[in-house]
Amino acid sequence: MTANLPYFDRLFEGLRQQNPEVTRVFGRHVHWGYWANPNTADGSDEDFALAAERLAQRVCDAAGATDGLRLLDCGCGFGGTIASLNDRFSNMELVGLNIDGRQLDRAREQVQPCNGNTIEFVQGDACQLPFADNSFDVVLAVECIFHFPSRDRFFQEARRVLKPGGKLTLCDFVPLPITLAIMKGLPKVFQTGVAETYGSVDCTYTVADYRNLGRTTGFTPILEEDITVNTLPTYPVVRRVFRSTGNPESDRATASIEWVSRLGLMRYWIFSYTALS
Ligand SMILES: C[S@@+](CC[C@H](N)C(=O)[O-])C[C@H]1O[C@@H](n2cnc3c(N)ncnc32)[C@H](O)[C@@H]1O
Repeated sequence: MTANLPYFDRLFEGLRQQNPEVTRVFGRHVHWGYWANPNTADGSDEDFALAAERLAQRVCDAAGATDGLRLLDCGCGFGGTIASLNDRFSNMELVGLNIDGRQLDRAREQVQPCNGNTIEFVQGDACQLPFADNSFDVVLAVECIFHFPSRDRFFQEARRVLKPGGKLTLCDFVPLPITLAIMKGLPKVFQTGVAETYGSVDCTYTVADYRNLGRTTGFTPILEEDITVNTLPTYPVVRRVFRSTGNPESDRATASIEWVSRLGLMRYWIFSYTALS
């Protein structure tokens, strides 16, 4: 099973070289940060790591994660969200799934169960889940659905493995409808730059698309939250890390995402749904 994820290649290289910025910023979570008040962000690695932990906790709280539940984290990265749940709750059955075996090796090294929790890391594709029907209380997809081959297929698979009443919760980069027209008119170089850093990414799903997808795959929406402004202090930190790893082109690609986000054209949303019976 292979995945085209150039930014993870860069992160692994940084970790191998024991680059302290990479370790502090992306050693646990590989997603954006959340600042309740973005003016308080100080741009440091430590502040960013706390903000990334807050984002994970917000998504887990939106899913109603709590003691005793069986939870699947799809696209689990280095296991940061599983680690956060493991620290906060007890007697959970935590399963992390990732297409990239290298990330799972690191997750297994980094995250040891405590508080009566069990943890399993499984290699697989979020669109073909290797799990039984009705076997989870919660399915998460933290900042990864844009890589999946099909959102529709992922929602169908999440519905299949969730018990009725279970929760599907995710966060994603969501364009305004007008942004789609603008994106079509942008020079190819813009999209190529993003793909060269972030790999295969589809950020064309609007809020209306998410509403429709939930309806057609057996879910009721319970939360839709636009947290774009709370994530904006992420960009200077991520761009600095790319410069520190000798990847100025990744800094530029991230700058282009920063500007569509600062202009409000690309939003960052959390969505949560209940699985219908
Ligand atoms: C931005 S990272 C987020 C990682 C993690 N959720 C976190 O928040 O730290 C995107 C993740 O999606 C994973 N991924 C990409 N395509 C996938 C697929 N088809 N099935 C499962 N995981 C996938 C990548 O390997 C990567 O771990």
